[in-house]
Amino acid sequence: MSYGKSVIFLSVLACGILAVSCAGTDVYKDPSAPVEKRVEDLLSKMTLEEKIYQVTQWTYGKNMNANNVETSMKEVSPMIGSLLYRSTSPEYYNMIQHKAVEESRLGIPILCGFDAIHGYKTIFPIPLAQSCSWNPDMVARSCAVAAEECRLSGVHWTFSPVLDVARDSRWGRVSEGYGEDPYLTSEMGVAAVRGYQGEDLSDTTSIAACLKHFVGYSWSQGGRDYQYTEISDQTLWDTALPPFEAAVKAGAATVMSAFNDISGVPASANSYTMNEVLRGKWGFDGLVVSDWGAVVQLMSQGAAADTTEACMKAITAGLDMDMVDDVYLTSLDSLITSGQLDESVLDEAVRRILRVKFRLGLFEKPYIAELPESERFLLEDSRKLARAFAAETFVLLKNEGDILPLSSDRRTVALLGPMADNREDLMGSWNGQGDAGDVVTIREGLEASGMSVKYFGGCPFDGDDRSGFTRAKAIAAGSDVVVVCLGEKKGWSGENASRAGISLPRIQLDFLRTVASAGKPVVVLVSSGRPVEMEEIARHADALVEIWQPGTEGGNAVADVLSGLVNPSGKLTMTFPLCSEQQPSFYNQRPSARPFMGHYQDISKKPVYEFGYGLSYSDFEYGELRIDHESVATDGRLTAEIDVTNVSDTDGQETVLWFIQDPVASVTRPVKELRHFEKRLIRAGQTETFRFEIEPQKHLSYYDGDGVRHLEAGDFRLMAGPRKVSFALL
Ligand code: BGC
Repeated sequence: MSYGKSVIFLSVLACGILAVSCAGTDVYKDPSAPVEKRVEDLLSKMTLEEKIYQVTQWTYGKNMNANNVETSMKEVSPMIGSLLYRSTSPEYYNMIQHKAVEESRLGIPILCGFDAIHGYKTIFPIPLAQSCSWNPDMVARSCAVAAEECRLSGVHWTFSPVLDVARDSRWGRVSEGYGEDPYLTSEMGVAAVRGYQGEDLSDTTSIAACLKHFVGYSWSQGGRDYQYTEISDQTLWDTALPPFEAAVKAGAATVMSAFNDISGVPASANSYTMNEVLRGKWGFDGLVVSDWGAVVQLMSQGAAADTTEACMKAITAGLDMDMVDDVYLTSLDSLITSGQLDESVLDEAVRRILRVKFRLGLFEKPYIAELPESERFLLEDSRKLARAFAAETFVLLKNEGDILPLSSDRRTVALLGPMADNREDLMGSWNGQGDAGDVVTIREGLEASGMSVKYFGGCPFDGDDRSGFTRAKAIAAGSDVVVVCLGEKKGWSGENASRAGISLPRIQLDFLRTVASAGKPVVVLVSSGRPVEMEEIARHADALVEIWQPGTEGGNAVADVLSGLVNPSGKLTMTFPLCSEQQPSFYNQRPSARPFMGHYQDISKKPVYEFGYGLSYSDFEYGELRIDHESVATDGRLTAEIDVTNVSDTDGQETVLWFIQDPVASVTRPVKELRHFEKRLIRAGQTETFRFEIEPQKHLSYYDGDGVRHLEAGDFRLMAGPRKVSFALL
């Protein structure tokens, strides 16, 4: 698959010193030698000090993560293995790379990583939003754009995709992942890896992906960040690990170990997950980097008494590179020279790091062209993709009286609320190198689309300043339709940004009630980094759209959807609970002993919007669910089909979600599990037949808590839309 990357030849710049010396005896400098030979040759020449620097990562350039400000910039050693590279300047990058290649004894290039989580300069919707598009191809294409912008700026490695399966909306980092389903997370993760890494990692537009956070981080107790996680082996195997397995098998080059303590053994000192599962069972041969300071934090977690013990535990558990805390740098030498740690353990870590560097082609092309920003960032096609992708992630939650799309006689729009003319927060957390100045606001988008917009913010995100309410209501009364833009600031989700409650602040709800009382049709747009409480909002809205944090082109995408240029097709990938207290609220829970009992007495048991929910401007009707056989052998195939008809006069895209239920098994299975999905355009009045080829080994088996897959004969149920059918596995 090609994701439209332009090929940029930098060979002249790239040859440098290394190519000149290829003719020498150093196998590692010979691009025609196999990677493994080059790795072994280089490793055999390295001193202990050089090896220790290889497994160390420092930061360089401006700090983008508010949580990590405490680490100061250091004098960079030419021997350093990796940098968290926070500048966008190719000149700055070339400078530091020249230092490494020319001033270190062996000329080993530095591996530069950065958090391009949903874009680098062109910011795409947050990953949670991306998953609501049900469009892995768009995910891959957006990652390919990020990869190109990164590589042209000196970044070879992104700490993405995030494969933490969401479990609790209060946890701020649900914004960074692909929702609550492990299969969907796997599909999106695989697409991201393909997008970042392209056909060949050494292409000048490819970067290494990093699967994170390995593993189980999203089970943080109470949704509070960095907390202990209690995860049974069963849940580890059937929910947390599968996305990582899929993305490793798709060729992901690197993995990041997580902060959390998995049932008593921290992820960054966990030999079972890193050595046994990742390497042993899945054959992963790339590098594992720690999360920021995760090695020294083994002490806070009670797993190590001092940095020496933390170092010993992490490296023997299979953690190759130490991000920023210098524990490896300061402890490895004495551990090895005193004989407590065998040097072969360090060698293995270095081997894995060098392997990634060779695969990225860094030895052949350490430097980059010094192109101006206008040739690297926010290219026309990238902006177009960001716009189309954002529109595809929006989820239409309510559309009473078909108020949307706005008809031409409803074109005088009162545009109100804290998000209406906001740039910064539309980008969401982890906005890479994105600049608020490049963001198209909702106001700008609507104005550019030709609507007559009367803008007035009228309400802050939070606090108690209601002084704008009266004027906002008057503007609403004088318009054809009111568009109220509510939501969360970007810092309300993301790392270290959990919330005890998932409602919007009271002032925003009061504002909505006030402007709705003007009596005009009300469209509410909610921009958030997590599911928020929607019941009260929906009560005051004729139409309601979750636009998430849509990125650079967010405002234009909103205009496209409100005007009807784009028909919304997003479906939720996280359940929207009634309130915080209704959590955990994910769809794929295991059945209870008394399914109709045991719920809280004081609130409804139903979430407001379920996983998979989302409306369209089209109406779709599902026909009968057909299967070609009523039973299937373990090595057989069963074909299921369903006709979906667009009974409206508007073309629209529909995603069919296929769920399997295994009602009785040796290990109980969730009430239903997503096993396949497909999105297609269905023209007005047309019917499309959607198909699911069920392969028992792949779609009907499950992992037990030891990581062994089981396929058990018995009855199964298949579901698509409102339809169900049963079949037997023989
Ligand atoms: C985050 C990671 C991130 C790393 C580097 C950590 O605090 O947990 O997701 O990749 O910082 O910025």
